[in-house]
Amino acid sequence: MARLPDFISPSILSADFASLGQEVDNVLKSGADVVHFDVMDNHYVPNLTIGPLVCDALRKHGVTAEIDVHLMVQPVDQLITDFAKAGASYVTFHPEASKHVDRSLQLTRDLGCKSGLVFNPATSLNELEYVMDKVDLIMLMSVNPGFGGQSFIPSTLTKLKQVRKMIDDSGFDIRLEVDGGVKANNIKEIKEAGADMFVAGSAIFGARNESDENHYDSIITEFRSELAKANV
Ligand code: DX5
Ligand code: ZN
Repeated sequence: MARLPDFISPSILSADFASLGQEVDNVLKSGADVVHFDVMDNHYVPNLTIGPLVCDALRKHGVTAEIDVHLMVQPVDQLITDFAKAGASYVTFHPEASKHVDRSLQLTRDLGCKSGLVFNPATSLNELEYVMDKVDLIMLMSVNPGFGGQSFIPSTLTKLKQVRKMIDDSGFDIRLEVDGGVKANNIKEIKEAGADMFVAGSAIFGARNESDENHYDSIITEFRSELAKANV
């Protein structure tokens, strides 16, 4: 099956929150495809970040790109509803954080968003088996969720190949996203393992170039040229 086009999805977790609207504008101007929006509740993960109000503020600021909301919260249903109202495009959640995974996926789509499941490094893929027709996106965590700036866990590559096969066998146009430790020096092999959507926080926002008015051009160009070398 033909691969979907590569999407680069910068995680705003590593952006300068004091000028978030500008940061998002800059990263999109530099060629990012999607905005990755990490929601942490200090319960499902040991960290606390941002909620629907900030998503709504980005929309009101004028962001028209897709917003990829990654819920690291438990429970999920109320926040799926709130983020759909706040302008989310994708809403993904961790299956162990929902009592009724099928219901939460359906809720996401019923509210007009693209739905997705996220699997931690040690989480098995069992939940996928009966819901392949209800997900638009599958995301594999290549770090344990909760913080930016961690190292890529290599076993994710094997898991990616497994999910790639499941997607291809299913015949559905499901995106395969990777989140955590994605850098210019590993993005090519991540694509070769099957991913078509690449979250990167510290690698992108940490590479801000003050001397270039298009702050993030060089890192995003480097990502694209590495992706173009992939043998898929
Ligand atoms: C981690 C978050 C990631 C994080 C990635 O829990 O889900 O999106 O921001 O950060 P980097 O790219 O720095 O590993
Ligand atoms: Zn994330």
